Amino acid sequence: MGEPDLPGRDASLWLETTETTDFDPLDGDVQVDVAVVGGGIAGLSAATELQDAGETVAVVEADRIVSGVTARTTAKVTAQHGLIYDDVRSEFGPDRARQYAQANEAAVEEVASRADDLDCEFRRLPAYTYVDGDDARKKVRREVDAARRLGLPASFVEDVPDPADADCAVRFDDQGQFHPRKYLLALAEEIPGEGSYVFEETRATDIEAGEPCRVETNRGSVTADDVVVATHFPISDPAGYFARAYPKRSYVLAVRTNGPQPEGMFYRTGDSYFSVRPHETGDEEFVLVGGQNHKTGQGGSTAERYRRLEREARDHFDVESVAYRWSTQDYVSADSVPFVGPIAPWRSHVYVATGFGGWGMTNGTAAGKLLADEIAGTGSEWADAFDPGRLPPLESAGELLKENANAGKRFAGDWATKLRRSEASLAPGDAHVVRDGGDVVAEYRDEDGDRHRVSAVCTHLDCLVEWNDAERTWDCPCHGSRFDVDGGVLDGPANSDLPKK
Ligand SMILES: Cc1cc2nc3c(=O)[nH]c(=O)nc-3n(C[C@H](O)[C@H](O)[C@H](O)COP(=O)(O)OP(=O)(O)OC[C@H]3O[C@@H](n4cnc5c(N)ncnc54)[C@H](O)[C@@H]3O)c2cc1C
Ligand code: FES
Repeated sequence: MGEPDLPGRDASLWLETTETTDFDPLDGDVQVDVAVVGGGIAGLSAATELQDAGETVAVVEADRIVSGVTARTTAKVTAQHGLIYDDVRSEFGPDRARQYAQANEAAVEEVASRADDLDCEFRRLPAYTYVDGDDARKKVRREVDAARRLGLPASFVEDVPDPADADCAVRFDDQGQFHPRKYLLALAEEIPGEGSYVFEETRATDIEAGEPCRVETNRGSVTADDVVVATHFPISDPAGYFARAYPKRSYVLAVRTNGPQPEGMFYRTGDSYFSVRPHETGDEEFVLVGGQNHKTGQGGSTAERYRRLEREARDHFDVESVAYRWSTQDYVSADSVPFVGPIAPWRSHVYVATGFGGWGMTNGTAAGKLLADEIAGTGSEWADAFDPGRLPPLESAGELLKENANAGKRFAGDWATKLRRSEASLAPGDAHVVRDGGDVVAEYRDEDGDRHRVSAVCTHLDCLVEWNDAERTWDCPCHGSRFDVDGGVLDGPANSDLPKK
């Protein structure tokens, strides 16, 4: 198989156009009002809001801040999340649906107002969602109606601008887009001092709830009145979040085009979504195209997904070159609304923000505000909609059962007997999962011919990992954990590495 020949450089535009941060790691023990674990958009938004409310904070980041999912987003800042409001209104009822809508619309305005003082390439643009097929018109009309009733700036348009090849779309006015790292690194710069901290390269290993709470890390500990767990998937999962949200991976290309830039942000819903938006950074103009989503660890060659996305980009644009490619994943809850609030009723003072469903720029910003209001004691008017303890509405319960049955099929069971034995040949750049005596081994042969052999059994709940040929990682098809070729955890819910074999 060898090195896959893929479009563009394997790098995110956002990471390539900003400097690496260098906040010191924690050294010993500190005490603050609130410990915020995770330095992506949810964690940094929460930390900023908490500081604005007069609390001292310590952001604890395992790697470098804004280097996780938020560094690989497409960074549309919009309350338009595909065609969601008609469903949310009927499943949640008008009051909670309005909370969701208003939290996200308020987040657009929050980012816009903070961006006034920051150099983060924020730009106002309309957002369009369109669908393919004959029932598009009815669906779009229902969505416009539901969104308008919830107070959103929605309208029905028939003259849909390029590159959308559609008869009609729902348009939201005055939405936004930005450079997520420029925005968040600027917020993070303001955090340290007067009893607040940002600690990088400091991995939280345990969270003890109580009065006070304690966050144990590999560098020391943080004692705090409250803890916000903003690690994308929560590192502490007392309430079975892994069974209530599933991981969706998708792919992005930043392309240079001949011809005019799109004048809006575009999103085609359906089985295979397609996302488009322009971005100008320095004196370069790009079009970001996204799509080819699938459940992590399922769905065949990931390299092929980049190729398909490139073909789709070329169908819509006169592509001069593909500059960058990247991919990442987000957790989607059964009812499409995130979990933001107390992590579990029996773990007081510990809060969670997860399950942003591919819309974390506004949901993550709103989560920061919601949690700051809850922790500061004023309470949040959006708390009910995002309540992590809610039962899924009946309409969504079937979705939840389907996802868990899908995961269940992949748990350790008769899979081991169906595998090839380890003597099967392996070309450089190739990988496979094989049986070796009583072990099941995930084996990768690098370009120099060296073999990297690790256990193929996911350390979360014993599913068998699958090879991701584009990213060269082992991905778990059950709940989305990912590991590098030497077994190191890249994404949770797994918390420990795959043992070497
Ligand atoms: C391809 C793609 C495109 C997207 N485009 C959009 C878009 O256009 N608009 C939009 O609104 N949303 C978009 N999203 C969704 C959005 O990017 C995410 O919802 C959001 O970035 C998630 O932010 P986060 O803060 O939860 O996670 P992250 O950014 O991943 O932050 C979590 C942080 O926690 C740290 N961490 C993990 N474990 C530990 C530990 N033990 N100790 C300390 N730190 C730890 C990680 O290192 C990481 O830095 C997109 C998603 C995908 C997959
Ligand atoms: S078994 Fe749950 S992520 Fe692998």
